[in-house]
Amino acid sequence: MSLPELDERLGTVASLVRPGSFLADIGTDHGYLPVYLVGSGICPAALACDVNVLPLKKAEEEIKRNALENQIKTRLTNGLEGLENFPIDDIVIAGMGGELIWKILSAAEWTQNPVKRLVLQPMTKADFLRTALYKNGFEIIQEQAVRHRGRLYTVMLAAYTGKHRQIGSLFSLVGRLPECHTAAAENYILTQAQKLERKAAGLEKAERQAQSPRQLRDLAAQLYRVVQEKITVEEQK
Ligand SMILES: C[S@@+](CC[C@H](N)C(=O)[O-])C[C@H]1O[C@@H](n2cnc3c(N)ncnc32)[C@H](O)[C@@H]1O
Repeated sequence: MSLPELDERLGTVASLVRPGSFLADIGTDHGYLPVYLVGSGICPAALACDVNVLPLKKAEEEIKRNALENQIKTRLTNGLEGLENFPIDDIVIAGMGGELIWKILSAAEWTQNPVKRLVLQPMTKADFLRTALYKNGFEIIQEQAVRHRGRLYTVMLAAYTGKHRQIGSLFSLVGRLPECHTAAAENYILTQAQKLERKAAGLEKAERQAQSPRQLRDLAAQLYRVVQEKITVEEQK
């Protein structure tokens, strides 16, 4: 057996999967996560799923290399389609955009079950994912930030509660990361603050360049005079 070494991002994802759980890894690609978790005895069994043939082939090779064919089954499937009858405890959806993660979850009503855990690692639109989770009766139990190759990622552990809630702007931006007190979480929060500042500066600049309502009214008044006093308009001012 030559178990894959997980990088910091996938290692954080793996740390949020419950020991003893039947795992479904959606968008498994290379299959490193289920092979690591099952091969090291943390999970008894897993489904390695992908919508594309080539990634699934890579996962199959990784499973075979580690002689885990009896414990890890592969499925060529879109998101969670067709997985409702497996005894899945924990679902990992990592390395995809926040909108796609939500699309996959919302298409599988059977995930609305408080005993199941979701480990979600959005590459983009984490704010969208947090908002959608709470709006649709899920909550984030725990969240961790991780830095890998200079980039910051967030990993969420979520579950269904049935309480549909609208979250505030700050929570949508940073979720439970303020509870972490790690350097990565602090950096993630600072990065969000810097993004907001850049956005605000962009808007201010745009406003300075664009004509204000007063300027527009002045122009209109000049045009009324052009008609009333029959004056011409210079090509250039
Ligand atoms: C960037 S890789 C992430 C691999 C791994 N989960 C990780 O975090 O390292 C994304 C994988 O998701 C798969 N994928 C994309 N959309 C999917 C969908 N709707 N259902 C299942 N897999 C999907 C892709 O084929 C690809 O293998």
